[in-house]
This record gives sequence, C-alpha cells and structure tokens, in this order.
Amino acid sequence: MIIHILGHRGEDILDYINKIIDSVKYIEKKIQKRPNIGLILGSGLGGLGERINRPIIIEYKDIPNFPISSVEGHKGRLIIGELGNKEVIAMQGRFHLYEGYLLKQITFPVRVMAGLGIKKLIVTNAAGGVDEKFSPGDLMIIRDHINFTGQNPLIGKNIDTLGPRFVDMTNAYDQNLIKLAKIAGKKLNIPLQEGVYMWLTGPTYETPAEIKLAKILGASAVGMSTVPEVIVAIHQGIEVLGISCITNMAAGILDQPLDHEDVIKTSLMVEDSFERLIVEILANI
Ligand code: HPA
Repeated sequence: MIIHILGHRGEDILDYINKIIDSVKYIEKKIQKRPNIGLILGSGLGGLGERINRPIIIEYKDIPNFPISSVEGHKGRLIIGELGNKEVIAMQGRFHLYEGYLLKQITFPVRVMAGLGIKKLIVTNAAGGVDEKFSPGDLMIIRDHINFTGQNPLIGKNIDTLGPRFVDMTNAYDQNLIKLAKIAGKKLNIPLQEGVYMWLTGPTYETPAEIKLAKILGASAVGMSTVPEVIVAIHQGIEVLGISCITNMAAGILDQPLDHEDVIKTSLMVEDSFERLIVEILANI
C-alpha cells in the first residue's frame, strides 16, 4: 500500500524524501570519500572552492532535483574534496528567496549534504553592516540571527525522520566552532567582528528607515540569505558556523547609494583573508 502524506501546503513528503535520496545517490556514485563538513560560499566568496584539493566538481544542473542559481557572482556547482585536511563539500552558489524559489528548494542542498553525512556546516554570505563600528571588508562571526521574513523552511508537515517538529534555536551557531574561528583569526592576524545577522527577503536593499529599525531590533548586519539553510541544518542536528563579509555599510549609514557591483568588489577584496581563515578553521576542527 502506498501511503501519501500530504503537508497542508500540498507538498508530498514521500516525494521530497525520494528527491533527496535520488540526489544523494547521484553524488555518492561520483565520490570516493564521504564529506563530513559542508561549506556554503556566498556572493563573491566562491573562490574558496578553487582551493579544494582532489576536487570532484558537479554542476547543479546535472544533479537530479537540484535548483539552478541565477545571480551574477554565483556559480552553480558542488565541489567535493580535501581542504584544511578535511573532506568537504562546498556549494559554489546558493539559492535565494528573491529569485522566486520556495524555501524547500533553497534548503534542498542542505538536506542532500545531510544525507551525504556532513556533521558540520560553514555558511558564508555578503552582508550590509548595521553596526557603526563595522567597516566594509570586515568579517563577522554570526553569533545569532533574526528571521525578519516571516517565513520558515520548516513550515508544513514535519519530516520526523529528518528532525523534530519544534527546533531549539538557542545555540544555532555552535559555541565551539565560534571559539575555533576566533582562535584562527588571532593566529592569522585577521580581525573578526561578531554579531547578529538579520535575514530579509530582498531583492531591494533596505531603506534607511528599515536599517534604523533593524538596529533597534538588535541586528549587527543585514542580508538576503543564510538563515533558511541554517534552520534546516539545525533541524538535521548539524553544527553551524556562520561568517558574514561586511561588503558595504547598510542603507542610510553612509551618505551613498548601494550597488551590487560594490558588494562583489568588496567580497573579492577580502577573499584571500576569508579563504585563509576558513582553511585554518577547517584544519582545527
Ligand atoms: N542589505 C542586504 N543584503 C546585503 C547587503 C545589504 O546592505 N549587502 C550585501 N548583502
């Protein structure tokens, strides 16, 4: 007997699980060693993928059920191999709500990485600095986040085999990984900020009034990604480290308009120290 379990938004849970399994199997056939750490590389930060040794590269478009990314500065491929003496799987390019994807699609790659067996996930992004102590080019360890979209990838019937219905987010960003990141920063002489990342849908940058609000609410930085992937990683019991590259000061903080070109330029400028930092963190995990 085939049991059809429909979520209240109409998604077919068995179908979703089968899609994850198909993608996992496709990737498993192409790799010799299982990755145990996942990396999601944000806007302009994808170059780290090039440092992976013995890389096995799989284009998203070739993986069954994978969405395909559309933003400039975002490639769309998985790179699996060795980095900092660890077996990693890196996403060069991620999916955003503003591209029109559903949150179940955006977070699908995290489900697949979990299926492949990762135990830790390092998420990175470009973000606008809200904290006036920040400067463009700063790297910020994400201590906590604020989901300001009113949306959540776990809405719908829970898949109990993947994780619990109600997920504790008290320590979403793992304290030990934060410690390792700080030690790595000190060792490499790369200054690190620490703060709260607020997720907004985009694709508009915020208004100066919205940034004032974000600040009052406790945000240190704002961005259009990361939180859905983190929520799903936590649902799966994966330990998370988040690092933002402050590519610009958020709207209204400086007397200048925001531009995607500048976001990419700044992230490329700090790419080298960002990459060295991640490799050092990986080496010490
Ligand atoms: N706002 C939202 N997302 C961003 C920004 C910003 O200022 N900079 C980079 N990503």
